[in-house]
Amino acid sequence: MKQDSTELLMCSPEHYGIHYVINPWMKLSRPSDPQRSLAQWTALHEILERLAGTVHVIAPASGLPDMVFTANAGLPVGERFFLSRFRHEQRQHESPHFRKWFEARGFDIVEFPEDVYFEGAGDALFLGPTLFAGYRYRSDIRAHTLIAEQQGIQVLSLELADRRFYHLDTCFAPLNGESALYYPKAFDPYARQVIEANVEDAIAVPAEEALRFVCNAVVIGRNVVIHQDCPRTCKELTARGFGVHETDLSEFIKAGGSAKCLTLQIR
Ligand code: ARG
Repeated sequence: MKQDSTELLMCSPEHYGIHYVINPWMKLSRPSDPQRSLAQWTALHEILERLAGTVHVIAPASGLPDMVFTANAGLPVGERFFLSRFRHEQRQHESPHFRKWFEARGFDIVEFPEDVYFEGAGDALFLGPTLFAGYRYRSDIRAHTLIAEQQGIQVLSLELADRRFYHLDTCFAPLNGESALYYPKAFDPYARQVIEANVEDAIAVPAEEALRFVCNAVVIGRNVVIHQDCPRTCKELTARGFGVHETDLSEFIKAGGSAKCLTLQIR
C-alpha cells in the first residue's frame, strides 16, 4: 500500500562497477557482478515502488559507474536544487546529467563556488526543519553555510572522523522528527555531542551493523529499508513501531554504498 507522497530518484546500474578507488570500500581486486547488481537493484526498486508515491529513474551514462548513487546528485530543497560539486574528478562528470534532469523538472539550480565541494543528500539530511550536514572527506563546511544562508534554515555541521564513513548518510539516519540512527565512533567527539543534544531519541547502532551500512536506510513514513542481517537495529526499529524491509545490497557495498545512497528523495 502507498504510504505517502514521497518522490524518489534512482539510476539503474547498467554501467555500475568498481572501476576506480575513491573510498576504503572500493578495491579493484573485488569487482561487482553485473547480473547480481542488477538483480539487487531491481529488488530494491520494487520495494520502494510499493512504499513510495513515485520512483523516478534517470538514464545511466557509460563511464559513470557511481551514478547509481543518486543520493550524491545534489540536495533538493523545495523548488531549489543544490547541485553537487564532487570532490573526485571521477564523479564530477555526473553533474551535467543530474543538472539536466532537475532543470527539465523546473527546479532552480544552485551551484557552489569552484573551490567548495558538496556531495548532496549523501552529506545533508533533514531531521524536522534542521539540516544535519557532514563534512571533511567529501563535502566542505563552507557549503553548509551557503545552504543555511540561501534557505534561512538551521544547519548543524558534523565533522566525520572515520574514512569508512565518508558520507554522513553512512553513519546517520533521521527516522522522523525526533529519532535517528547513528554510529557514534564515525563522528568526532564534538559532533557526537551535537547529535546527542539535538536528537531526542538518538539510537546508537553497534559497530558490526554500522559496517553493514545499517545507517544507510531509506525511510518512507513508518517504513525503513536497509541491507540485510542487522538484527539488533531491526529490534530497536520494530520496538518503535517501524516496519523494517531488509534486502541484499552486497554488490553496492563493494563501492561503499547501500539502500539510501541508491536513492534521492526529491519531495
Ligand atoms: N563509490 C561512491 C563514492 O565513493 C559511493 C557513494 C555512496 N553514496 C553515499 N551517499 N554514501 O562516491
